[in-house]
This record gives sequence, structure tokens and C-alpha cells, in this order.
Amino acid sequence: MAGKRALIIGSSGGIGGALVDALDASGDFERIYAGSRQPPGRARNSIYPLTIDILDESIMAAAAAEISREGLLDLVIVASGLLHRDAAIRPEKSFRQIDAASLTELLAVNSIGPALAAKHFLPLLAVDRRAVIAFLSARVGSIGDNRLGGWHGYRASKAALNALVRCFSIELVRSNPEAIAVALHPGTVDTRLSAPFQARLRPGSLFSARESAAHLLAVIGQLSPAESGGLFGWDGRRIPY
Ligand SMILES: NC(=O)c1ccc[n+]([C@@H]2O[C@H](COP(=O)([O-])OP(=O)(O)OC[C@H]3O[C@@H](n4cnc5c(N)ncnc54)[C@H](OP(=O)(O)O)[C@@H]3O)[C@@H](O)[C@H]2O)c1
Repeated sequence: MAGKRALIIGSSGGIGGALVDALDASGDFERIYAGSRQPPGRARNSIYPLTIDILDESIMAAAAAEISREGLLDLVIVASGLLHRDAAIRPEKSFRQIDAASLTELLAVNSIGPALAAKHFLPLLAVDRRAVIAFLSARVGSIGDNRLGGWHGYRASKAALNALVRCFSIELVRSNPEAIAVALHPGTVDTRLSAPFQARLRPGSLFSARESAAHLLAVIGQLSPAESGGLFGWDGRRIPY
């Protein structure tokens, strides 16, 4: 991807930040837009901070306009997401704990925000060469793979995201047959998001954000257009919807 341009949304997050660093270290990208709600003030190497709040469409439209003035994108990764917030949002153990405000916020951040990101950034994907848009989803968003139940809101919001990604892939092929839209499961990764849920993990099953970023970029590098629309794990294996 020499001289390419990328956008990472959620660059303040554990995985998003590691993705930005990995792309920068690769030396393959002339510009990496690092989008977050409160970006650092200064550019560093090929990294260009950008204000992006996936819940604020006017901010996304302004970010898209800024990027488009400089050219098209080869890679977009939506790495934002929400599982818990203080005492206000906690993954449900039973349908009895379903709370309308929590469900609304999970769907807003994990499904609607990425959908709005697609609305504004899909048109910026390169049309004459391989281009990838990847959305960080989660294995627990797979309906077919759900044997434990629980985490109703998070699971539903990621299942909705997976359905949206499938729609994007079908539409995208019309403008660029080489373009790929996928949902990716990063594995269980040591970040703020997973911190409260790490106690019962099997030894060796927790990746660092740096390891996860390397896995995800390897998967992205190997995907073919025929695989567009799918949900894939950190190891490149397809996960059923
Ligand atoms: N960690 C895991 O084990 C794991 C497993 C499966 C799937 N995932 C998925 O991987 C993705 C990244 O997770 P992570 O572990 O890196 O979590 P994280 O460290 O908590 O990062 C989450 C990111 O989402 C951003 N975000 C939240 N709301 C936003 C909004 N309205 N606009 C823009 N950005 C917003 C946060 O920005 P602020 O800093 O501004 O809040 C932060 O950058 C998520 O989609 C998550 O569901 C993670």
C-alpha cells in the first residue's frame, strides 16, 4: 500500500490507537487520518488528527470534506465502539435487565454511528484500485454463534452492524468491483472495553492491542473482493452471521 491514505475512526481507543501506530510504522501510508472525539492538537509522522464523533453527522460531513480535498482513501477502519459506561451501561445477564436508555446508546454508538460513517466515508474510497472499509464488530454479534446468551444490547448492536456491512458490500461493488467492506472480530483484547471482563479468561486468550492490530491488518491485507460483506475473526476465519 505504498503512498496510500487511511482513516481510522476511534483512534483514542485501545485497538484504534494501535492500528494508527501500526500503519504509521509500516511506512506504507503517506497520510493516516486519526479520528477521535478529542484528537491531540498536533500531527506526528504521517498521522493527521481529525475530530470525528460518529454520533454527530455534521462533524463527520466536515471531516469527509477535509479528507476529500486531499484525495481518496485506500483504507477506512471504524474502530469505535461501546460495551459499558460507568454504572449507567452494564452488559445484561438477563432480559429482565434490559433498559431502554442503555439499549438506545449501544445501538447509537455500535450500529447507527458506523452507518453514518459509511454514509460519509464510503464515497471517499478509491474507485480504481483495491480499497477496504472494515468495521470492528464482535463474535458475540453473531446470531448463529450465540450459545451463551446475555449481553443483549451489545450483541444486538453488533448484529445490526453486521447486517449493515453486508448491505454496504453489495452497494460498493457497483462503484468499485475491487472494494471490500467487512466486519472484523479483533479477539479479546486488553483495552478499557474488555477490562471489567478479563478475570475469567483462559490464560493466553487475551491479546495486547498491538498484537490485535497486527492480526487485523494481516486479515485486511489478505481479503479478496469475493469475501466482501462477511464477518471475519482476527485469524482470518469466517464467522457465521
Ligand atoms: N477489546 C475487546 O476485547 C473487543 C472484543 C470484540 C470487539 N471489540 C470491538 O473493537 C472496537 C474497539 O474496541 P476497544 O477495545 O479498542 O475499545 P476502547 O479502548 O474502549 O475504544 C473505544 C473507542 O470508541 C470511541 N468512541 C466511543 N463513542 C464514540 C463516538 N460517539 N464517536 C467517536 N468515537 C467514539 C472511543 O472514543 P473516546 O475515547 O472519545 O471515548 C474510543 O476511541 C469496538 O467496536 C469493540 O466493540 C473489542
